[in-house]
Parts: sequence; C-alpha cells; structure tokens
Amino acid sequence: MNQDELKQAVAKAAVEYIAPRLNRDSIVGVGTGSTANFFIDLLAEHKAEFDGAVASSEATAERLKGHGIPVYDLNSANTLEFYVDGADETNERLELIKGGGGALTREKIVAAVAKTFICIADESKQVGVLGDFPLPVEVIPMARSYVARQIVKLGGDPVYREGFTTDNGNVILDIHNLDITRPIHVEEQLNNIVGVVTNGLFARRPADLLLLGTAEGVKSIP
Ligand code: 5RP
Repeated sequence: MNQDELKQAVAKAAVEYIAPRLNRDSIVGVGTGSTANFFIDLLAEHKAEFDGAVASSEATAERLKGHGIPVYDLNSANTLEFYVDGADETNERLELIKGGGGALTREKIVAAVAKTFICIADESKQVGVLGDFPLPVEVIPMARSYVARQIVKLGGDPVYREGFTTDNGNVILDIHNLDITRPIHVEEQLNNIVGVVTNGLFARRPADLLLLGTAEGVKSIP
C-alpha cells in the first residue's frame, strides 16, 4: 500500500471506531491535513447519525460544509466525545508533533476539550524520539525575532515559514535540531516564551488512541 492508501485505511478505521458510539446530539472534533481529509470524506457517509462538527481550521470547516456537515463554534459545543486528527510524528507514548499544516493552535484547543483524542497516521509518522520533523511554533508576528533568539538559546534552529499566515493571523517558526528527549519539558519551555501562542508538541495532552496504518493492516495503540 502507498502512503495515501495507508492514510485512507486509518481514516476508515477511525470512522468505524466512532460511528457506533455517536448519537444524534454528538459533535465531533475534526483535525486538519490530508489524513483528516480522508476521514472527513468517510465521516460524511454517516452525517445523518450525528449533529455536526467542530473544525480545527478554516480548510477543514470548508470541507465539512462541502459535505453538508454542520460546523459549530467550539464555544457552543458542550461536549466533544471525540477529536480525530493526523500527526507529523508520534512516539510510543502517543506524544505527537503536529502543525505541519500550520493549524496547531486550534488543533491543540480542540484536543484539550475532547474526551478522546484519536490520532490517525501512517507508519512513516512513528519515531523513537520526536524531533526529526521540524517542530512548528505559532508566534505573534511582532515577537518573531525575539522568540527565534530564545529558541536558539534552547539549542534549536528556528526557520521562519515564509509567506504563511495562520488562521489566527500569526506566523510560524519551524524548529530544526531541537533535543526533544523530554517532550513535556520542551513543550512547557516553549510555552513560557513570551510571544509564543502555541507549540506543536502534544505531550501534556497526548493522543488517547493511535490508529497506525501499516503494511500488515491498521494497528490500534494502546
Ligand atoms: C496540521 C497537522 C496535521 O495533522 C499533520 O501535518 C499531518 O498531516 P497529514 O495528515 O497531511 O500528513 O498537524 O496542522
């Protein structure tokens, strides 16, 4: 199977997992990216069985609406039973790097609210130690240079994602070569830099369930 087929397989597995657990009042949190897009397309086949969705990006909101799935503001959603999203990297503790698509802040908010965070990823995303994938950090534009200097002090090499503005009107620094052997510690260190909105480490709130697409089939972890 190629990478897209693996992404499709995990998207299908996620729909099969949540669909029997939804009811007419359920609102589903939906992530961003190519794996999440496969999930949205398959979830649409069940749209009569749940109320609607909360989107982690404008792009996801548009895709959901295109399928006729109602999209709600998070503030009007009392409970989110599930959040389903992809990842750029995952380790064995289901700590993640996310934000390759730049949607990390809204993704982290929706993940925080959801009772169960289901990560869907192909096996290329599974790593021993996080950090080969450059870690995205969303930054208030006027703080970009200051935040970059602070990141250098932490041992990372920040690269400005040129020409990219987040859905929140901010910019992204992608950190290369950062030691992420202690993900929770690094997540907190980055959060403490003034001007940082969010960083793409999902370690304080990791995924609850990983559906990993492999050549042998979809593995459910743990
Ligand atoms: C977007 C993300 C995505 O989940 C991540 O980049 C994975 O994307 P894809 O499913 O296209 O490989 O965090 O901000």
